[in-house]
Amino acid sequence: MTINNKKDSLPPKTLEVIGIAAVTVNGYIARHSREKILWSKDLSLFKKQTKNCPVIMGSNTYKTLGDGLPGREMIVVNRTDGPVDILRRIDKKRCFVIGGGKTYSKFSSYLTHLYLTIHPMVFKRGIRLFTKLERELLISFVRLVPVVEEEGIFQFQFKVE
Ligand SMILES: NC(=O)c1ccc[n+]([C@@H]2O[C@H](COP(=O)([O-])OP(=O)(O)OC[C@H]3O[C@@H](n4cnc5c(N)ncnc54)[C@H](OP(=O)(O)O)[C@@H]3O)[C@@H](O)[C@H]2O)c1
Repeated sequence: MTINNKKDSLPPKTLEVIGIAAVTVNGYIARHSREKILWSKDLSLFKKQTKNCPVIMGSNTYKTLGDGLPGREMIVVNRTDGPVDILRRIDKKRCFVIGGGKTYSKFSSYLTHLYLTIHPMVFKRGIRLFTKLERELLISFVRLVPVVEEEGIFQFQFKVE
């Protein structure tokens, strides 16, 4: 009984949980927690990749979005939401964690992939990709997707081991 309960409390093993972010070369995703990310050049790739998939975001990120993200089920989390409960409710084979830093951190133990678009920018301060990590993530390179090739902007796709 105890073992079954433990199994039931985990998200399905087949669920892909993809963390997706635009990051500066020094690892920031925003200058501050209310910044609307207007500098990102990967919006059309982001829209294509997340289309028809549930997208999980923190309340700060939700507030920056304005019109939201049409065509996607938006799951807005707050500090009391546990990642497992959220993931267990998802009945698709793939979902995306779209930020911000606190929310990437909250879901870090459940990420199966990381899609990072590195932008040629260096911020002085701000929100890091992971504001707080319980442990290091072991990742391996999967593929590189050109975003704006002539500006050196590519999306690096990693699998989380
Ligand atoms: N570059 C990118 O790709 C990208 C992607 C997404 C977002 N962003 C940017 O990231 C920024 C937001 O990131 P963020 O890290 O500030 O916020 P966030 O992850 O979007 O949302 C904050 C989350 O942390 C929770 N929280 C707040 N205080 C907490 C505490 N003391 N203990 C535990 N949980 C707490 C909040 O819950 P409550 O609702 O209960 O407060 C909320 O769920 C925005 O500027 C956004 O535009 C950038």
